[in-house]
Amino acid sequence: MSATTITTAKEVFDLLHDDLHAIECEFGDDAISSVKAITEISEYLREGGGKRIRPSLLLLSARAQDYSGRGMVRLGAVVEMVHTATLVHDDIIDGADTRRGRPSANTTWGNAKCVLAGDWLYMQAFRVALEERNFKVLDLLIGLTQQMVEGELLQMETLGRPITEQEYYDLIYRKTACLFEVSMRLGSVLANATGEAEARMGEYGHALGMAFQIVDDVLDLTAAEEVLGKPVASDLREGKATLAVIHSLEHGSAQDRDSIFTVLTEQNFSRVTHNEILAILARNGSVDYAMNAAYRYAEKARTALTGLPESEYKRALLWVPDFVVAREK
Ligand code: IPE
Ligand code: IPE
Ligand code: MG
Ligand code: MG
Repeated sequence: MSATTITTAKEVFDLLHDDLHAIECEFGDDAISSVKAITEISEYLREGGGKRIRPSLLLLSARAQDYSGRGMVRLGAVVEMVHTATLVHDDIIDGADTRRGRPSANTTWGNAKCVLAGDWLYMQAFRVALEERNFKVLDLLIGLTQQMVEGELLQMETLGRPITEQEYYDLIYRKTACLFEVSMRLGSVLANATGEAEARMGEYGHALGMAFQIVDDVLDLTAAEEVLGKPVASDLREGKATLAVIHSLEHGSAQDRDSIFTVLTEQNFSRVTHNEILAILARNGSVDYAMNAAYRYAEKARTALTGLPESEYKRALLWVPDFVVAREK
């Protein structure tokens, strides 16, 4: 590709097409177990699609730093497997019944089998990662998995009550941004980059991941389920206060606070409707507030790339933050 700027998803997809295809094959091969239920669940999850944003980041990070070996295919599959495992577990924990526009795996196979399939996928991801024979890779992945599990647990302790912005940012780092950061860092590790270059790539992934989850949380409040492919308004129904809601709790009228508090504690919309909550958020400018926070993180991500040599991969990385904040699903 010779274009000087990258401006569409298709251009990025074309740039990564062959690598992403190789990752799909690797994931397909890796997700086979001698136990049928595991293979079925893994295959169902893999073929369900998804944006493949984490492996794309890993590829862009590695290629932007002049790496082009087999490791990026393996580790690309690894980060997608870790992501998939967290989704299976997350849907069980959240009691969600749709994912990627289809029934979630737990509705088909039940919670017990899905917990185990998720565990198996985690371990399979580590087995594949081990093929790199690189302790740095394992160190990053182990730290990541612990952060994600801690994040889910800490989140449970906040359910049904308002949280501070600081608590919110800490949770979304663990839940989401950490995996974005690690995907970028793994690209640097493969490319044998300096510690400083790895840190900058990590900073990009961290900021991008924060923007990604803030937008995910806004979409949970404002999107239509047909577009999103997963349940909407589920965060409030689970008792989760996300950034826009936190803003209205802190800046709304006493009545606004009461209404939000009612939904958070009762974890349903029977006394206060979803539309009433949307009206409260609109009146207080809370969705704009959250989106502005996402725009700032997106900008921070782009700034982290300043020292990276020019290439089409860098141009793609510069485009990704725009995609993340403008996405509709
Ligand atoms: C969903 O991630 C989980 C979050 C971190 C919000 P994605 O939105 O990347 O899910 P898929 O893989 O595209 O379905
Ligand atoms: C996403 O949390 C973080 C994960 C580790 C899956 P959410 O609960 O917001 O994710 P979705 O909205 O179900 O995809
Ligand atoms: Mg969920
Ligand atoms: Mg969500």
